[in-house]
Amino acid sequence: MAELRVEGLSFVYGAGTPYEKTAVSDVSFTIAAGEIVGVIGHTGSGKSTLMQLLPGLLRPAAGRVLLGGEDIWANEKAVRQYRFRVGLVFQYPEYQLFDETVERDIGFGPRNMGLALEEVAARVRRAAAVVGLPERLLRHSPFDLSGGEKRRAAIAGVLAMEPEVLILDEPTAGLDPAGRQTILEMIRAYNRQTGAAVLFVSHTMEDVAAVAERVLVLSAGRLALQGPPAEVFAKEEELRAASLDVPAYTRILAALRRQGFPAVRQGLYTLEEAVAEIQRLYAEGKGGATC
Ligand SMILES: Nc1ncnc2c1ncn2[C@@H]1O[C@H](COP(=O)(O)OP(=O)(O)O)[C@@H](O)[C@H]1O
Ligand SMILES: [Mg+2]
Repeated sequence: MAELRVEGLSFVYGAGTPYEKTAVSDVSFTIAAGEIVGVIGHTGSGKSTLMQLLPGLLRPAAGRVLLGGEDIWANEKAVRQYRFRVGLVFQYPEYQLFDETVERDIGFGPRNMGLALEEVAARVRRAAAVVGLPERLLRHSPFDLSGGEKRRAAIAGVLAMEPEVLILDEPTAGLDPAGRQTILEMIRAYNRQTGAAVLFVSHTMEDVAAVAERVLVLSAGRLALQGPPAEVFAKEEELRAASLDVPAYTRILAALRRQGFPAVRQGLYTLEEAVAEIQRLYAEGKGGATC
């Protein structure tokens, strides 16, 4: 499993036209093998553009993308190979399902890789298992699936290429809490089973807090902040400057602190931590304003 590193990466839409727009500006970071990293940022901050630069679907205006130390654009004819190793799940990937059966759809990537038919079939079954799609659905048309199942089938299509770095652009967008939970568990399972790094974009801070070991914050195309979720989510001012808010549970605990419960600890940002903290305060009799 290889490390993914970007150095001084920039991208400009419509360069040289009146509509020129710098979408990504001088971004550098490294994703270690096996790491789970979350990306947050306001709409238009450059998240989707950055995600497309990583597998070489867009060519940077400046800077480099290195997979295992190799510049993916060093040889233009070879850049396609990196798209199998750095797998990107686009936002609303279910709109890209097209084949006759779910099985053929999931197998599209592995077939393009030139793998033997038995290997393609084995990968399709493994990927379907990771996303929790029952085998009987594999013979159905993708258009017969429910919305959540379609999303999972589309993600399985990228997993079946067994990428070393899995990138997902807002994989939980538009899903209900149970659907979101399924996707987050799937991200963890793929990471655990394969040792691949995972980079995922989310609008929901709580999702990032629940799964990511590290967070990257984009603001107007630049990397404004990065670090472990506890550190990043404690930087309320910097997040506001990036037009972002701290996670809801962190806000609730901060409000409790301000309103006469000074023993409430800082740096907690998931539902489980917030519940445990409130239980601790009750158990220790420290919930009141007198301590
Ligand atoms: N195909 C495009 N042509 C021109 N500008 C674009 C295109 N795609 C995105 N942009 C612009 O680039 C900036 C970053 O967009 P994007 O990467 O989609 O951000 P995000 O995913 O964070 O919402 C925005 O200002 C957006 O309007
Ligand atoms: Mg986007």
